[in-house]
Amino acid sequence: NAYWVIVPAAGSGKRMGADKPKQYLPLAGTPLIAHTLDNILQWPGLAGIVVAIAADDQEFEALTAAQDPRVHRVTGGAERADSVLAALDYLSQLADPETSVLVHDAARPLVSRSDIQSLLNASAIALLAQPASDTIKQSRCSNGKTLVNQTLPRQQIWLAQTPQKAPLQLLRRALQRGLEQCPESITDEASALELAGHAPELVSACRSNFKITHPADLMLAEALLQHRQA
Ligand code: CTP
Ligand code: MG
Repeated sequence: NAYWVIVPAAGSGKRMGADKPKQYLPLAGTPLIAHTLDNILQWPGLAGIVVAIAADDQEFEALTAAQDPRVHRVTGGAERADSVLAALDYLSQLADPETSVLVHDAARPLVSRSDIQSLLNASAIALLAQPASDTIKQSRCSNGKTLVNQTLPRQQIWLAQTPQKAPLQLLRRALQRGLEQCPESITDEASALELAGHAPELVSACRSNFKITHPADLMLAEALLQHRQA
């Protein structure tokens, strides 16, 4: 069954602290987002990609992937969820309301083909996630210090990745309502779907599908790419 992919790529990369948005920084000589799009264009059963880019984006059109007829673009919004919603609004004019949509961060170039296949085989509402490897502490503040409030049971802790998968219209409604009700808690698609009463399936994925966020992440991604090519 064909599915669409939405790629939010309208962020400014504040934590990266570079002179341009991180999606356009070179990774092994090629812009980070080019790795992500070229990867997605090889996923089996792909119908098309909607990329959300910033209103002042100067670089997207120069990418090879931007010339592919399966790649569409929309203008993103202030927060990641606004960018995803803009892409869903666009897609709802092209695709059936039941169409499966995978939302995948531009900043995750290294997602593996086998993890994508696992996600495609999973429930209609599902996401890739990594079982926590560190012990997780919940904190509280006391007299200006940060103290452990409690240790969470690690067996039940997962770190959410992308892609996150849901039917088009269901996801669109959930994000619309989530942004109306409590925008600060909508940090991924699953959080909006949970608020709407769904229980997304967690699909265990490789740690290499990390999000490039800080400068050291770029170096790690380059090392992993070289290792794959070797
Ligand atoms: N994103 C987006 N629209 C926004 C904010 C983020 O499309 N208004 C995208 C980013 O481009 C990225 C993905 O969402 O591909 C994940 O977001 P994040 O890693 O937080 O990227 P930035 O917001 O760019 O980085 P930072 O939070 O450090 O500023
Ligand atoms: Mg951000």
